[in-house]
Amino acid sequence: MRAVVHDRYGPPEVLRLADIEPPRPGPDDVLIRVHATTVSRTDCAFRSGRPYVGRLVTGFPRPRWRVLGSELAGTVEAIGPAVTGFAVGQEVFGLNPWRFGTHAEFVRVPQSGLLAPKPAGVGFDEAAAVCDGATLALMGLRPAGLRPGRSVLVYGASGSIGTAAVQLARHAGADVTAVCQAHKVEAVRPLGVEVVDAFPPRTFDVVFDAVGKLTFRRCARSLAPGGVFVATDGLGNLLLSRVSRRALFPVPPRYDSRDVLFLKQLVEEGHYRPVIDRRYPLEEVTQATRYVETGQKTGNVVLTVS
Ligand SMILES: NC(=O)c1ccc[n+]([C@@H]2O[C@H](COP(=O)([O-])OP(=O)(O)OC[C@H]3O[C@@H](n4cnc5c(N)ncnc54)[C@H](OP(=O)(O)O)[C@@H]3O)[C@@H](O)[C@H]2O)c1
Repeated sequence: MRAVVHDRYGPPEVLRLADIEPPRPGPDDVLIRVHATTVSRTDCAFRSGRPYVGRLVTGFPRPRWRVLGSELAGTVEAIGPAVTGFAVGQEVFGLNPWRFGTHAEFVRVPQSGLLAPKPAGVGFDEAAAVCDGATLALMGLRPAGLRPGRSVLVYGASGSIGTAAVQLARHAGADVTAVCQAHKVEAVRPLGVEVVDAFPPRTFDVVFDAVGKLTFRRCARSLAPGGVFVATDGLGNLLLSRVSRRALFPVPPRYDSRDVLFLKQLVEEGHYRPVIDRRYPLEEVTQATRYVETGQKTGNVVLTVS
């Protein structure tokens, strides 16, 4: 099968298209023919091997995962003998975190993993971009107290996690303010919340830094009494989250397979749509990755596979 492989850490140019053996499904596995996937910031971090300390997880001296890619939408090609929840030919979507392998024509996903029937009414490319930003957004928003009436500020609302967080908080009934750079305001406005290009002079129950640029200290003035800061990056934020209940940093990420069904329902009911910035064919994975690494995408970047 065709797959994007890398055998060493480095810039996007270490990625190359190769012919490799397709995975064989184990007894509990679903083998999926991938129609679309995405290039995410996680893929970029695992490929670059930076910061170096991350190689304790991503592999040393070589990358542990040769084929990257976590999000997928495709068709079930084969199932293991113990699989009961999926059938050959079924259209599915989901996420393969910590296993990767979706930058390829076929990927193996355990039936207990983050896999569900594809939402009705969306194409494979849209379905492929549903899960990554949204599951990460849920991991931060839920423990921060996502309920009707809570005031939530989403900083960096134009990214993958940001565009998801805005929609999920809005769906939960929160009073959402989205903050993004001035040139992205028009791109975020269709998500149906107030969008501004700077911190407003008021306080919030939750400040969610969806782009990993803030510190608790910088947000402290924007937090209401008892308010919570949610971080997505930064060692200082991580350390603080271990000693203060007012700072959250959902690391390591804890995925819940039920979230895929939850997101499918939201998509079908029209409460959630992944924002797609660009689409590239699998062959152009290096260009797609260079773009993702600019840190300037709006929402998600999709790779179409077949
Ligand atoms: N905790 C985890 O497990 C985990 C997993 C994956 C990613 N992350 C982290 O989460 C963060 C967000 O990931 P993502 O995939 O959502 O990012 P992304 O999609 O690459 O975010 C890009 C967007 O952020 C905006 N942006 C960049 N700098 C900004 C700033 N200073 N102020 C406001 N907006 C800014 C960009 O707008 P402009 O074009 O206007 O700059 C762009 O629209 C990253 O730091 C990533 O490392 C965490």
